[in-house]
Amino acid sequence: MSKRVVTLAHYYTQPEIQQMADKVGDSLELSLYAKECGADVIVFAGVRFMAETAKILNPQAEVILPASGSTCSLVTQTDVTALQKWREEHADYVHVSYINSSAEHKALSDWIVTSRNVDDIIASLYAEGKKVAFSPDRNMGAYLNFQYGYDMPLWSAVCEVHDKFNQAALDEAFAAVAGAKYLIAHPESPLPVLQQADYVGSTSGMLNWIKAFDKEPDAVIFVATEDGILYNMGLARPDLNIKQAPIYAGCQCNSCPYMKMNTIDAVKRAQAGEGTRIDYLSAEQMDSARLPIERMLEFSK
Ligand code: 13P
Ligand code: SF4
Repeated sequence: MSKRVVTLAHYYTQPEIQQMADKVGDSLELSLYAKECGADVIVFAGVRFMAETAKILNPQAEVILPASGSTCSLVTQTDVTALQKWREEHADYVHVSYINSSAEHKALSDWIVTSRNVDDIIASLYAEGKKVAFSPDRNMGAYLNFQYGYDMPLWSAVCEVHDKFNQAALDEAFAAVAGAKYLIAHPESPLPVLQQADYVGSTSGMLNWIKAFDKEPDAVIFVATEDGILYNMGLARPDLNIKQAPIYAGCQCNSCPYMKMNTIDAVKRAQAGEGTRIDYLSAEQMDSARLPIERMLEFSK
């Protein structure tokens, strides 16, 4: 009997990769799909931590990452030994970690969150009187502290793509637009950018905001996130004037180098069974990492 191969693609991959996928989504949607899709083989056109999450949630499946180098700066900037020490220094805190983290990092966490459910999960922990420490994304943590008045200790890693958005380039872009203008932003962006935004949310959250847009039809909408999602926004609302938020004047360079390693050739090869297999996590590691992820999935039901 032939194996059932399912291809998943994150919104940040190129349009031609999204067109090769059975399911396109943000990290929460893809994690859920990976868990429930019943595939024998999952080709994950995203980055390594996403493929690891798929394997942890569906250990029976063979999970293949098309490009072995497709990591994430939030993972590479986090030394797990130092993180363990930080965790020990904050032993009386609930450790909430963003899903953009390695399997070892997840195994050291009490909760995993994505940008879609981070606000609600942390609010519920505070409502229970808990103290929360947040890792690895310093920008996301700083935004949550600012927005809700928390004083969470933060780990200090950033997304190398979103961290480049800045107020100066945005001010310049805004000044060049005479009419109505809006800014929507992913919470991995720096706080001054998020404070300026009309909407802050996950990749899907921003897409939904665009779908529902009913204000000035000629408004310019700047999007501060990875450029892959502009394709989905354009498909959903071809009538709107949607632009990438600039990083510096004239630069349209908000592209994640790791997501873009998912070339057509690499994905085709992975679908044929070549590529990097996520087969290096021990059963013990996966069990420890699964617990905080399952907690999140249960909360998000
Ligand atoms: P989402 O959780 O919005 O899919 O974002 C993942 C990511 O890597 C953002 O840079
Ligand atoms: Fe990581 Fe940033 Fe790329 Fe997302 S966009 S995968 S956070 S480096």
